[in-house]
Amino acid sequence: MRCQKCGEKAVINMRQHKLALCKSHFLDWVPDQVERTIKRYHMFTRHDHLLLAVSGGKDSLSLWDILYRLGYSADGLYIGLGIDGGVNYSENSLEYALNFAKERNLLLLVKDIQTEYGETVPMMTIRTHRGREKPCSVCGLTKRHVMNQLARTQGYATLLTGHNLDDEAAILFGNTLSWVGSYLIHQGPVLEADRPGLVRKVKPLCRMYEREMAAYALLVGIPYIQEECPHAVGSTSIYHKEILNKLEADRPGAKLSFYLSFLQARRDGLFSPAADQRAASLHTCPKCAQPTSAPGLCAFCRMFYKNEDYLVSNQLDGL
Ligand code: AMP
Ligand code: FES
Ligand code: ZN
Ligand code: ZN
Repeated sequence: MRCQKCGEKAVINMRQHKLALCKSHFLDWVPDQVERTIKRYHMFTRHDHLLLAVSGGKDSLSLWDILYRLGYSADGLYIGLGIDGGVNYSENSLEYALNFAKERNLLLLVKDIQTEYGETVPMMTIRTHRGREKPCSVCGLTKRHVMNQLARTQGYATLLTGHNLDDEAAILFGNTLSWVGSYLIHQGPVLEADRPGLVRKVKPLCRMYEREMAAYALLVGIPYIQEECPHAVGSTSIYHKEILNKLEADRPGAKLSFYLSFLQARRDGLFSPAADQRAASLHTCPKCAQPTSAPGLCAFCRMFYKNEDYLVSNQLDGL
C-alpha cells in the first residue's frame, strides 16, 4: 500500500476516507483535520484561554499535542478520581499526564477528589449506594461537576474534552435506542453555555476515529495509559462501540455518516425545542451555583448534603 500523496510506503489505510498515507503525511493530515473541525464548528480562536480535560489517555494527550502544534494555548486539567482497580489506574494516568506537560512546559492543573471532598469516587459510590456498586455514574457526575466548576471559576473561555468519533457515535447510539430528546438536542461538537453557571464545552476530535488517534499517538511517540478504566469492562458504552465497529467493518464510514447525518438532521430541525425539558426547568444549585434540573441541590452536591440540612444551615448563615 502506497501513500496517496507521495507514493512512499503507507503506514495507515483509512478505508472510511479511501485514503492511505505515509507517516509524514499522516502526521500532517491529523492536525489539519482537527483544525478544520475547530473552524467548521467555530469552537475557539488562538486568542482564547482554553482548558483541556486531560485523562492521561491517547485522545486527550494527542489533542493537547495537536493544539500545541497548531499554536493554540490550552492549559490541562487532570481529575484524580481515586480509581485503583488493582492496577493503580488513577495514579498511573496522572503520571502520563504530568510527564507530557513537563516535557512541553505546559500547565497541568490537578484536582484530587479525595483531597477536595474527603472521599475517592469509589468511596462516594459505596456511601451513596448509586450505580449498583459500579462507580461509573458517580465518576461521570463528578468529572462533569469538577470540570465545569474549575473552568468557570478560573475564567477559562472554553472547556475541551478528548471525545473522539467512536465515543460520540456510541453515546448517540445509546441515546437513540432510548430516544431521549433532551439528550439528543444537547449532543454535538459544541455545547454552548446557554445557562448561568455553565461553561462552554467543545470536542475537537469529534470527527476523528479512535483508530486514527491511536495511530497518531503511536507515530508521534506519546506515552499514554493503554489500559481502559478497570470499571469499564462490560459497560454499555463499550458494548455499543463493539456493535458500531461491526457495522464499520462491513461498511467503512458508517460511524462517521451516522454522526454527521444526526448533526444535519438536528440542524434541519428534526428535534424541536419542545423536546428540551432541560431548558424548561432553570434552577441553580444553592451550594455550587451550577445549573440543575430540579429545585434545590444539584446531583453532585446531594452526595454530600441533604436538601433540608443545606437550606436550614443556609438560612442560619444569613441570620
Ligand atoms: P472518557 O469519559 O474516559 O471516555 O473520557 C472522555 C474525555 O473526558 C477525555 O478525553 C478527557 O478529555 C476527559 N477525561 C476523562 N477522564 C478524565 C480525568 N480523570 N481528568 C480530566 N479529564 C478527564
Ligand atoms: Fe470513571 Fe471508570 S469509573 S473512568
Ligand atoms: Zn506521503
Ligand atoms: Zn451543586
